[in-house]
Amino acid sequence: MTGSGVWPATARERPDGDVSVGGVRLTAVAQRFGTPAHVLDEEDVRRRCRAFRRAFPDGEVAYAGKAFLCRAMARWIAEEGLSLDVCSAGELAVARAARFPGERMLMHGNAKTPEDLRAALDHGVDRIVVDSFHEIARLAALAPDTARPRLLVRVTPGVDGRTHAAVTTGTDGQKFGLSLASGAAAEAVRRILAQRRLDLVGLHCHLGSQITDVDAFERAARRMVAFLARIRDEHGVVPPRLDLGGGFGVGYRDGEPGLDPATLGDRLRGAVREACAGHRLPAPLLTVEPGRAIVARAGVTVYRVVSVKHAPDGRLLVAVDGGMSDNPRPGLYGARYEARLVGRRCLGGDRAAAVVGRHCEAGDVLVGDARLPADVRPGDLLAVPCTGAYHHSMASNYNLVPRPPVLAVRDGGVRPLVRRETFDDLLTRDVG
Ligand SMILES: Cc1ncc(COP(=O)(O)O)c(C=O)c1O
Repeated sequence: MTGSGVWPATARERPDGDVSVGGVRLTAVAQRFGTPAHVLDEEDVRRRCRAFRRAFPDGEVAYAGKAFLCRAMARWIAEEGLSLDVCSAGELAVARAARFPGERMLMHGNAKTPEDLRAALDHGVDRIVVDSFHEIARLAALAPDTARPRLLVRVTPGVDGRTHAAVTTGTDGQKFGLSLASGAAAEAVRRILAQRRLDLVGLHCHLGSQITDVDAFERAARRMVAFLARIRDEHGVVPPRLDLGGGFGVGYRDGEPGLDPATLGDRLRGAVREACAGHRLPAPLLTVEPGRAIVARAGVTVYRVVSVKHAPDGRLLVAVDGGMSDNPRPGLYGARYEARLVGRRCLGGDRAAAVVGRHCEAGDVLVGDARLPADVRPGDLLAVPCTGAYHHSMASNYNLVPRPPVLAVRDGGVRPLVRRETFDDLLTRDVG
C-alpha cells in the first residue's frame, strides 16, 4: 500500500488485514460512524496543495471546489495558500461560511444565473470567467458604480485532451467557452473592452478532466498566448492574466498514469515563457485550477458487504450498502476502481468479483473486475480508494438512500466534516 499511487499518503496496511489512514483504522471508522463512509486524509490534501504551489512558484493555484467542498476543505485550501474556484452561489455560500477571502476567488460556469453573478459581486469575488455574450451584457447591467467586475474570457482553444467525451471541454461543439476558431472569443473580448463598466483582466481555458497528456496543455498554452498577442495587436492592451484551467489526470488503479505537478509546472511555465518571448509579450500571471489532483487520492470509501451471489460466469457478485448514489462515476464515465477487503486477513485465495451497489439499476456496479477473497461474506468491510473527488460532490439520494458522511482523519483522530444524511433530512424537503 505504501508506494501505491491510489491510496492516501498516510494509508498503512496492518498485520491483521486492517488498513489505517491518518493513523485511524478503517474498521474503527466503520464501527463508530457506520457505512458507507467517505474518509478523507487531511495530510494528503495538504501535501498535494504544497506540491502544486512548489510547481507554480510565481503563479496562482486555484483549487476547483466542484471536486469536493465543505467549510473545512475551504479552510485547508486557504491555509495552504491556494485560491478557490467556485461555480455556483451554493459553492460560494460554503466558501463564505468558511471566510474564504473573496480576493482569492474566481467564479466559473457556462450558465451562471443572475443569482450566481449577484452573489459573486456581493462577496467581492476577484474574477468572473465569462462564458457567453449574454453574461457580458448581464454583468454590465449588474456592475456596481463603485467597482468594475474583473473578467476573464473562457476560450475554447480547439485542443483535444483525449479524455472521456463527457468531460472534454477544449474542443468546439460542446457547451463550454467561446470558440477561438469561430471568432466568438475575439468578439467577447471586443464587447468587454467596449464596456467601460467591465475590466478585462485575462483569458481562461480548460481542456477537460482526467487528462494525462502534457502536450495538450502546452498546445493550449501556446494558442492562448498567441490570442493574447492578437488582442494586443488589435486593441493595444495586454490582459495580464492567463488561466489554463485544471483537468490534471490521476490514476485510479495501481499503475495507471497520473500527472506529476512538478513536471507539469516546468513544462507549462516553459511553454508560456517561450510563446511570450516569440510574441514579445510580457509573461502573464499564470493560474491553474486543479480539483481532482488535489483531493481524489485523499479519499477512501468504506462499505459493508450486504450479500454475495455467484454469477454464471464464475464471478462473485458482492453487493454493498452504497453504490451509484455515493459514486456515480462508473455509470457516467465507465470509471474503474480497485476494492479490497479490510479488517480481516484473507484465508484462502482470491476470486474474480464484481462489487455492485444497492440501487435499482443493473448498471449500479462500483468495480466490475475486482479480485476479492473467495470467502468474502456479508458483514465484511470493503474499501475503495481514490474517492475524494467528484464523489460526495456528485452524490445523489437515488432510492432515497441518505448520503454518507465525510470524515477527516489526521494524527490518529477522526473529525466529521459532513455528517451522514438522515431520513429526517430527506423528509425536511418533502413539504407537500
Ligand atoms: C473550469 C474548470 N476548472 C477546473 C476544473 C477542475 O478539473 P479537475 O478536477 O479535473 O482538475 C474543472 C472541472 O470540471 C473546470 O470546469
